[in-house]
Amino acid sequence: MEESVRMLIGSRKDLKPLTIVITGCNSGIGLQACKLLRLVSPKSRLFLVARNREKALQIVDDVRNFCEEMKEELDVLAEKEGQHIGIDVMCLNAAILLGEDAEAQFTEDNLELTIQTNYFSPFLIVNNLFDCINVGARVVVTSSGLHAFESFGNFEGVIDPKNNSGKINDGFEMICGTPFDHKKSYAASKLCVVAFCRELDRRLRERNAKAICFTPGLITTSGLFKHQKQWNETVLKKVGMGMVDTKEWGGCILAWTVISDKAAQCGGCYWRASFGISQRDGKIPDDLFSAPINEEATDRKNQETLWKISSALTGTSLKQS
Ligand SMILES: NC(=O)c1ccc[n+]([C@@H]2O[C@H](COP(=O)([O-])OP(=O)(O)OC[C@H]3O[C@@H](n4cnc5c(N)ncnc54)[C@H](OP(=O)(O)O)[C@@H]3O)[C@@H](O)[C@H]2O)c1
Repeated sequence: MEESVRMLIGSRKDLKPLTIVITGCNSGIGLQACKLLRLVSPKSRLFLVARNREKALQIVDDVRNFCEEMKEELDVLAEKEGQHIGIDVMCLNAAILLGEDAEAQFTEDNLELTIQTNYFSPFLIVNNLFDCINVGARVVVTSSGLHAFESFGNFEGVIDPKNNSGKINDGFEMICGTPFDHKKSYAASKLCVVAFCRELDRRLRERNAKAICFTPGLITTSGLFKHQKQWNETVLKKVGMGMVDTKEWGGCILAWTVISDKAAQCGGCYWRASFGISQRDGKIPDDLFSAPINEEATDRKNQETLWKISSALTGTSLKQS
């Protein structure tokens, strides 16, 4: 921990306190990152966003309420401190992975639970809080290496190719139109967040702000795999192959993307390290690199289509870039 704190302090020239929002802060890498950030920048304001599990099916309402509360809190702070307070860093880190035998579950918005939690909610949060994002700020989105194996498949789950009207439908199991699969749905949601990050980065340029994404590596001890029944067998295989990293490692990468100057030098980039490198004396940031992104996510047309679909399904209207 001490070494990570020292590295993080040294990763940033400007020591001004930041206003940081982190979703998924009560567990796993989000929790580790918060602990580090508190030590590294004690005067920064951390807005810690968590939820009750019972509320999982009301995410959109939760997100809207959260955004309203967030704005009110920023106003109260601004009044107290006699100056405008916006968000310097917004971390969209919360996500779920359903169990192997799970069928598609639909929220009250008629959206599949995985993609709503992992992608539509971050989209909605950013859109609702867009005006609170400061000049020179950054948005950090937690993705996954699994995004590289997925495809949008012409968005056939959402826009029926047989119907020329281009109508955007909810109630789809998978955005690409295939039947639901827990792992593919998770991977597809992470493909969406990478494409979203690239498009968002373009939209943030007008205020000299950046959007970046990263993967923390394979962290088997976080809460992400709590719904997996056969996980033990898979974990043992991955542990045996030396591919697993720790929560401390993943949390430190998240904290680094939040605070370091280098992480946000290039907007739209995707940071990662080799799997299991923390076990082979890997170091942050030396062993982190800005990795190539799945072409599906870098394709401008896909980014625009995804943004259009997301605006329609979440009822937001942030202008096209
Ligand atoms: N662990 C890995 O191997 C791995 C690999 C690649 C990427 N990631 C990504 O890393 C991020 C953090 O995951 P983690 O590994 O730290 O897992 P984690 O311990 O399960 O953390 C996930 C966080 O998301 C929150 N969350 C889930 N559903 C939510 C909802 N509907 N509303 C609000 N919060 C919700 C969880 O809150 P509750 O405790 O209330 O559920 C928890 O705080 C995720 O984006 C994940 O996809 C993880």
